[in-house]
Amino acid sequence: MTISSALPVNETELLALRERFESYGQGHVFKFFQELEVEGQIALLKQLMEVDVERVNQIYRKAIEGAESSVLNQDTTFEPLPENVFESVLESSPQKIREWETIGLTQIAQGKVAVILMAGGQGTRLGSSAPKGCYDINLPSKKTLFQLQAERILRVQEIARQYTTAGQLDTCVIPWYIMVSGPTHAPTLDYFKKNNFFGLKEENVIFFEQGVLPCLTMDGKIILEAKDKVAMAPDGNGGIYAAVQNKGVIDSLKKRGILYSHCYCVDNCLARVADPVFIGYSVSKGTDCGVKVVSKSAPEEPVGVVCVRDGKYGVVEYSEISQEVSEKRQEDGSLQLRAANIANHFFSTEFLERVPSFASQLEYHIAKKKIKFVDEQGETVTPKSNSGMKLECFVFDVFPYAHHFSVLEVDRKDEFSPLKNAPGTGADCPETSRRDIVAQHVRFVEAAGGKVVHDGDFESLQFELSSWVSYAGEGLADVVAGKTIHTPAVIETKADLIRLAI
Ligand code: UD1
Repeated sequence: MTISSALPVNETELLALRERFESYGQGHVFKFFQELEVEGQIALLKQLMEVDVERVNQIYRKAIEGAESSVLNQDTTFEPLPENVFESVLESSPQKIREWETIGLTQIAQGKVAVILMAGGQGTRLGSSAPKGCYDINLPSKKTLFQLQAERILRVQEIARQYTTAGQLDTCVIPWYIMVSGPTHAPTLDYFKKNNFFGLKEENVIFFEQGVLPCLTMDGKIILEAKDKVAMAPDGNGGIYAAVQNKGVIDSLKKRGILYSHCYCVDNCLARVADPVFIGYSVSKGTDCGVKVVSKSAPEEPVGVVCVRDGKYGVVEYSEISQEVSEKRQEDGSLQLRAANIANHFFSTEFLERVPSFASQLEYHIAKKKIKFVDEQGETVTPKSNSGMKLECFVFDVFPYAHHFSVLEVDRKDEFSPLKNAPGTGADCPETSRRDIVAQHVRFVEAAGGKVVHDGDFESLQFELSSWVSYAGEGLADVVAGKTIHTPAVIETKADLIRLAI
């Protein structure tokens, strides 16, 4: 065989690569190699050189074993969380919550806290090809999810400044690490650049890319989506652990003296980014790995539940839980497994650093999908039903390995309104996101003794209160108590508030 000198490998290396794939039963990826133009050969080889075929096969085997045992093993036990790892802001005294908040703000003021955003998902259910964070949920201000999150970071930094001692002002920075994937990387970066990082310093917004894995047929064969292209997909939000190691994030955290990270999902418009209460709670408990939950609304709600599974902390994902387990109730009628995962996590840097020591034991999950593939003639087929699987690791798969696990329950109406589905679907969609934010802003004003004139239809109410002015309802009473705000009103600054509260 003669090969082009333009290829990224010489003849011996090509042979070795081919033999490697063949020895792991994946030699078919070279099926069309000889008939490809040089460009196609280069493209395919570049992909294949990045694939650790032995690891792919291992992951597949473990995923299949895991799927079979969770279906077949009726003996798996699921128990609610024990009291010693669980607290709820709904049942804690205001004094206790303030105590946690003070601890959190002190850590932030000392520059020990970062936020890590998982934004590598492709938002298939939402039906938008742009990264989810760029989605306009039709707020009066037209702010997107990324902008809302950026402004919350800016506000928390501001609040934490009062906890700094003289001369420490520069430490009060919350670096924002944003995990993207192949498909979301460039558009996310462009979007931040175009918007001047929403007022944050560019050096404090750090993008890093998660890994990918080949998509497989149901019997574990790597799928070619074109003659010169392997079908690849992001490795799930649990890809965060490998990515923080491999892409320099851990080094960066350590260099900045960061001890704790708040890690969250892009799609929750109410996410309290860098939440001082959650950080303070977790630090006060000596937590190395923790999670925020809300009370599950109904057995069929598509959320994972945090529980004790076969004696270990973990999450049973909504795609994996049986109807019987999800419907089980306690004597008082409440759901037995009701700690709904809202994908808000707390990690110590020490924990993130420790993950590689147990990473090979993590199980991957199978997501069956319609994956394009080439037929015998080399034509790409777009299937109408599931043709293969993506293998994904989940961010919560590490829970069983925590040394000090803890869980904080928060109020759903203040902290959880995810954007999952397309407009008009009526649940977890752009309309519910908008409604829940506007309703929360009205509540903030009312709790501070003010009034917003409205008829209860928050889906169309033209009212908004920027996080610049208030992150969680703080700092409003001195202006709004006893006053009324007429709508439409979009309050961006304290000066707007003073002007509009009459
Ligand atoms: C997720 C949780 C679920 C929880 C629900 C709450 C996981 C695995 N599941 O489910 O338990 O109840 O949110 O809303 O966390 N992402 C990546 N890379 C990927 C895949 C996803 O960064 O390869 C990010 C997404 O951008 C998103 C987040 O992870 O920010 C959640 O992903 P998604 O697939 O939407 O999770 P859900 O199925 O909604």
